[in-house]
Amino acid sequence: MKILNNLNDFNQILSELLKNREKIGLVPTMGSIHEGHLSLLKKSKKLNYYSIVTIFVNPTQFNDLEDYNNYPKNEDRDIKVLKDNKCDLLFLPNVKDIYPEKVEINKNIDDFRDILCDRCRPGHFDGVVTVVDLLFKLIKPNAVFFGEKDFQQLKIIERYIKNNNLPILFYSCSSIRMSNGMSYSSRYNQFTNDDKKIFDKTSQLIYQHIRILNKNFNPKVIDNLVGELSKLGIKKIDYFEVREESNLKISKNKNNSRLFVAFYINKVRVIDNFILY
Ligand code: PAF
Repeated sequence: MKILNNLNDFNQILSELLKNREKIGLVPTMGSIHEGHLSLLKKSKKLNYYSIVTIFVNPTQFNDLEDYNNYPKNEDRDIKVLKDNKCDLLFLPNVKDIYPEKVEINKNIDDFRDILCDRCRPGHFDGVVTVVDLLFKLIKPNAVFFGEKDFQQLKIIERYIKNNNLPILFYSCSSIRMSNGMSYSSRYNQFTNDDKKIFDKTSQLIYQHIRILNKNFNPKVIDNLVGELSKLGIKKIDYFEVREESNLKISKNKNNSRLFVAFYINKVRVIDNFILY
């Protein structure tokens, strides 16, 4: 695996790749690589792309400086697991590589906005679209791989590629789940042992209520779930909502719908979604 941490070296290698007509598959990440990221890399490798993983903790998508500063970092371990999983190139740009001058934050996707995480983290998706677009311009991938755990992000980037007619194949990849049924997330490295116990109980409650919803779809089941979570000590809940997969509109039934959840266990934000059909 090549490891490059500055743009000049990266550009040199990229021009060789382009000369050799390599097809590039991009897996953009913010590091603390887990099984979810690795599944994206494995998919890219399986499709025979020259697979590039980027690790860049993007400052413009954080609306809270403390959250940005505390975002988990695990570079040595990341390098090891990416090597073990046959990543072709790991690019670790610095802030100046990505944002050499004052950046125009992209606000050109209006779909899937003002709901879910966009309502709770204003500006977050503008920062995500901005950095992903900059990575596309630097790396010129033929394909890009996103995980369904961050479903709203995935919908927004997919739409961004379509609206701008970018010649990039978009792969949406299923969530990879831990033994407790929740999707992997880099943020869970910040859990204390007590947080982990609450997390497991939360997961049990979510799945119990999903089983009830599956038998008899009734929005009161969600209210009941939220009530049970507050009894567990979950104080900050951003949303528990059932929405349609295609347009992210609120659903009145479980057809083509998912339960979207976002809440905090102490300082750690949990987001996930669960297919209901
Ligand atoms: O999902 C993430 O890790 C980030 O939002 C992304 C897509 C790498 C952009 O910084």
